[in-house]
Amino acid sequence: MAKDFKRYTITSALPYANGPVHIGHLAGVYVPADIYVRYLRQKGKDVAFICGSDEHGVAITLRARKEGKTPQEIVDKYHEQIKKSFEDFGISFNVYHRTSSPTHHKTASDMFRKLYDDGKFLEQSSEQFFDETEKQFLADRYIKGTCPTCGYDEAYGDQCEKCGSTLSPSELINPKSMLSGESPVMKETKHWYFPLDQYEGWLREWIVEEHQEWKPNVSGQCKSWLDNGLRPRPMTRDLDWGIPVPVEGADGKVLYVWFDAPIGYISATKDWAEAEGKNWEDYWKSEDTRLVHFIGKDNIVFHCVIFPSLLKAHGEYILPDNVPANEFLNLESNKISTSRNWAVWLHEYLEEFPDKQDVLRYVLTANAPETKDNDFTWKDFQTRNNSELVAIFGNFVNRAVVLTHKYFDGKVPQRGEVYERDQQFLEAIASYPEKIEKSLEQFKFREALAHLMDLAREGNKYLADNEPWKLIKTDEARVATIMNLALQLAGSLAILSEPFLPFTSQKLRGMLNQTTLDWSKAGTADLLDSGLKLADPVLLFEKIEDKTVEQQVQKLMDTKMANEAAEQEPKVAPAKEVIAFDDFMKMDLRVGEIKTAEKVEKSNKLLKFTVDTGLDKRTILSGIAKHFTPEEMIGKKVVVLANLAPRKIMGVESEGMILFAENEDGALKAVTPGDLAQNGATIA
Ligand code: MF3
Ligand code: ZN
Repeated sequence: MAKDFKRYTITSALPYANGPVHIGHLAGVYVPADIYVRYLRQKGKDVAFICGSDEHGVAITLRARKEGKTPQEIVDKYHEQIKKSFEDFGISFNVYHRTSSPTHHKTASDMFRKLYDDGKFLEQSSEQFFDETEKQFLADRYIKGTCPTCGYDEAYGDQCEKCGSTLSPSELINPKSMLSGESPVMKETKHWYFPLDQYEGWLREWIVEEHQEWKPNVSGQCKSWLDNGLRPRPMTRDLDWGIPVPVEGADGKVLYVWFDAPIGYISATKDWAEAEGKNWEDYWKSEDTRLVHFIGKDNIVFHCVIFPSLLKAHGEYILPDNVPANEFLNLESNKISTSRNWAVWLHEYLEEFPDKQDVLRYVLTANAPETKDNDFTWKDFQTRNNSELVAIFGNFVNRAVVLTHKYFDGKVPQRGEVYERDQQFLEAIASYPEKIEKSLEQFKFREALAHLMDLAREGNKYLADNEPWKLIKTDEARVATIMNLALQLAGSLAILSEPFLPFTSQKLRGMLNQTTLDWSKAGTADLLDSGLKLADPVLLFEKIEDKTVEQQVQKLMDTKMANEAAEQEPKVAPAKEVIAFDDFMKMDLRVGEIKTAEKVEKSNKLLKFTVDTGLDKRTILSGIAKHFTPEEMIGKKVVVLANLAPRKIMGVESEGMILFAENEDGALKAVTPGDLAQNGATIA
């Protein structure tokens, strides 16, 4: 607030395009960002409000696997859906971009290359988990195993979702690749690291000294990162989805998603500026531009530590002036979870509450997780709608407009003599814009909204105290003054509510035939000229009935039941990538008959078989000794993959593979073609 900026670059976290958006996204990031931006625009500021889809990284490839689609299909689908949800809720981005765009690929690639050329990275080889069956290095999220802290056996390589501990894949007990289900091996790979430790001193100075105004939840997290000591972080990954590393000897490697995603803000600005005939560099490289990142708390380290250090290393960019991160919103006391479908999805909300975007915006702001995690409940949603929006805001506006129609033919009446109490009322109104503004400038959106509602309360109180409905019989001139002043307040509400409740503000301006949205006019008594004809009254808000919210609660109960039932069900391994028919036809699958079977010396896993494949009699080894005795296998008809390249296992050459069905708990069953099939019969 101290400095007067010429321009504003306001970003809000790029959501992963791996699922639709829900109320947690809105409450944490997009509604506060939109409120701030709308307010700035009303003040006549030059603002670029930037967002887009984050389309790289493991979040996307995992989802693609789960849905049996390609990563590109996944991002195309969710990008459109997310974009529409934001539009529907009035989130007024100047640009909603995507990180799969050519502009972004080039921008991120150039940024990496420049830092590389300037010698800002360290090249380091290390051992990483590698899936030998899939011939791939494994991202942390692709490794599952037993949590060393709590013993949960579905913990991910980066985190245990049961106890919340942060893990590294090597800490997992009995790690398994989620691609093949096999135990991964360690293999050497080279990556480019950004030496964050070298920026520690500067970061401390910049965050702790220069930005004491940052929210305590943000600076607290930053300090704890700094106090724990920063280490070099790899900015590249072994993955086949993302932006190729633009450096010799980096085949099969892509930029780390957290390297490329924040650069997405810059790419988006470039395309937007180009289309608008502006210069993008004004928004990123000029000291009189204020850069503000709106994010959720899980993004703090990336926006306050890593990205600024990269920008600093580059040397030409401005740094964020503030990062007003929010905490998390829970839903009916449980953590919002996409995979457990524990969420209120924006597109579903709009189907069930059409035209009630502002009600949700209101509730999410009034109850925003600004300083601590908060809980969304349907009961609270209903109460805030009925006893705040309907009873205070809606009721005041409705009375002011309806009475004007009733007494003055819908025209703003002429003001007469202004009494002491009118004067007090006018002074009260005049004090609100500044109060709201002060809260907004400190990113205290709940507080700002509470002031707005207090302003509406002033209106109700003024009408109740002056009782124009009684006076009208005796003193029409006095009623004209009262209604005129009440309408001026309604006009202020139309301006001041716009950042929070844009749809409502628009309706209200329509009713008042008010054209201005100029923030500096709010709080004055000259918004509506006398004689101005008002439009017919419309209800801004309507009561939400018990049964409506009960249905929503019931829907969540059903989800809970379905989740519990799903947990009882036997687990199934995740689907593999789609393959072409030709790939399938390459496999020579045949019926074989086990002729001999014996244990392999020094191995407690392997059995050695002679199998009659119809083509020949050959040796095949299988790692099934824990499940079957040699004796019980002799004479069995099995399915054999006959053209698998021979492999030497423990000194014995195995020529093919016998197929088994494996349950998720590890139990094995041979795949049997039935006794009547001939040895050598093909299977397809
Ligand atoms: N996709 C990330 C998330 O949902 C946020 C990325 S913000 C970024 O957590 F812009 F920096 F990319
Ligand atoms: Zn755990």
